[in-house]
Amino acid sequence: MSDAGTLHDAFVDELRDIYDAEKQLTKALPKLAKSASSPGLRSAFESHLEETRGQVERLEQVFESLEEKVRGKHCDGIAGIIEEGKSIMEEDFDEVAMDACLIATGQRAEHYEMAAYGTLVAWARAMGHTTAAKLLQETLNEEKAADKKLTSLAEGGINQEAADAAHPSEEEEEEMPARGGRGGSAVAVAKRTSRR
Ligand SMILES: [Fe+2]
Repeated sequence: MSDAGTLHDAFVDELRDIYDAEKQLTKALPKLAKSASSPGLRSAFESHLEETRGQVERLEQVFESLEEKVRGKHCDGIAGIIEEGKSIMEEDFDEVAMDACLIATGQRAEHYEMAAYGTLVAWARAMGHTTAAKLLQETLNEEKAADKKLTSLAEGGINQEAADAAHPSEEEEEEMPARGGRGGSAVAVAKRTSRR
């Protein structure tokens, strides 16, 4: 006969948390898009903004399916990630380094959401809320796809371009042994010496 909350109460609480997180992201994503220099990255943020608006509506359907009031509760977790993103955008990085940092921010947000939706889907299933589970799974799939898209942009050139801008001399250094012939670098000489 206790008044202790149940998993259902925790579930509704988490839904309110992620509902607020999605709303915060609809405001943050345009800023990320605006700061991106790579057209591919900009359009990834823009299309995820559209998706995010759909996710807000999907959560409203989840609340309806549970006969719960549509209400958000401030999400400190995503607020922190967005805040860190803002300080990065204020930094004076070169364009590609900024793009790499924007991807890092976006992926932090995606992983936060993936964790939240993963839990929500599992809890909905466990409690037999099948409509809610199906809707939440759709959003989880979108978040995973958005995360993958960011990985492919990072690994498809942005990281390397940013790295090359950070260490322009290293490529030249790699070419040195060919140019220097047997004389080589001090390290190469040391290695030859040690083999004797
Ligand atoms: Fe989302």
